[in-house]
Amino acid sequence: MTAVAAGAGAAEEAGRGAGVLIDLRGVSRTYDDGPPALDDLTLTVRTGEALAVLGPSGSGKSTLLNLVAGLDRPDAGTVTVDGLRVDELGESASAKYRRAAIGIVFQFFNLLDDLTVADNVLLPAQLAGLPRAGAAARAAELLAYLGIERHARAYPGRLSGGERQRVAVARALMNRPSLLLADEPTGALDTASGAEVRELLRELHADGQTIVLVTHDLTLAESCATRTVELVDGRIARDSAAGWETGALPPPGTPGPYGTSAAPAAHGAYGDRPGTAR
Ligand SMILES: Nc1ncnc2c1ncn2[C@@H]1O[C@H](COP(=O)(O)OP(=O)(O)OP(=O)(O)O)[C@@H](O)[C@H]1O
Ligand SMILES: [Mg+2]
Repeated sequence: MTAVAAGAGAAEEAGRGAGVLIDLRGVSRTYDDGPPALDDLTLTVRTGEALAVLGPSGSGKSTLLNLVAGLDRPDAGTVTVDGLRVDELGESASAKYRRAAIGIVFQFFNLLDDLTVADNVLLPAQLAGLPRAGAAARAAELLAYLGIERHARAYPGRLSGGERQRVAVARALMNRPSLLLADEPTGALDTASGAEVRELLRELHADGQTIVLVTHDLTLAESCATRTVELVDGRIARDSAAGWETGALPPPGTPGPYGTSAAPAAHGAYGDRPGTAR
């Protein structure tokens, strides 16, 4: 397969997983007078990792992605991505950072319905002011890679959910982001389309793409994540990289958010997988 993922070469040259890409330290975020959406959260993600963030509704998963994407700011703590203090960026620097370094895939695709599939995919390159010819070649390459080239001139409304999500992934990859973020990417898809998107994310990771995805879909986490972190009440309750180490878990035997016992029985429940398993 052609490696269309960003940084595939770079990640391999540097030795996969060599560098820290995301560094969150003591991050808290509270909205209005509610409980903290994130509560003193510290998390490091290395280049080449595929991290699945699990946790019940309201546990802070989307808040975490928004902070990494610079779409929101913490009340306390620091958010550093690829050496850049994202929490300190002003609005235009933040937009520039997202265009250059981040691809985002949402549950409901967020495509522009009055642009063709090809123009949706090209949009990030246009916004970044990249040369049109190179961008068009890149868009064509992505559409072919994702198996949707025959829809290039169609409008998103004509496509199935799975196809729309592949267009959204193509758009997210357009500017070769060092980081792909996905918030419930299979949440609105039927079983077959969800399986396609899972396979796609798995392949992208195998090609070297660093991915952080938020999901309720344990099959998605199992099939494409090399690491899983579970949030409960804005804190990390489990981290597979730390052997499910926890500061927030109830004692073993207590029913947890997924109705399972907290500890050793759950160890490896989502499995650590080698990133290159194909
Ligand atoms: N913009 C906002 N304004 C007010 N409260 C917010 C805002 N965004 C998030 N919250 C609150 O912060 C908490 C965490 O929300 P978040 O969206 O991060 O949860 P989540 O884990 O993504 O949940 P879900 O699985 O339902 O998507 C919730 O209590 C939510 O109501
Ligand atoms: Mg959410």
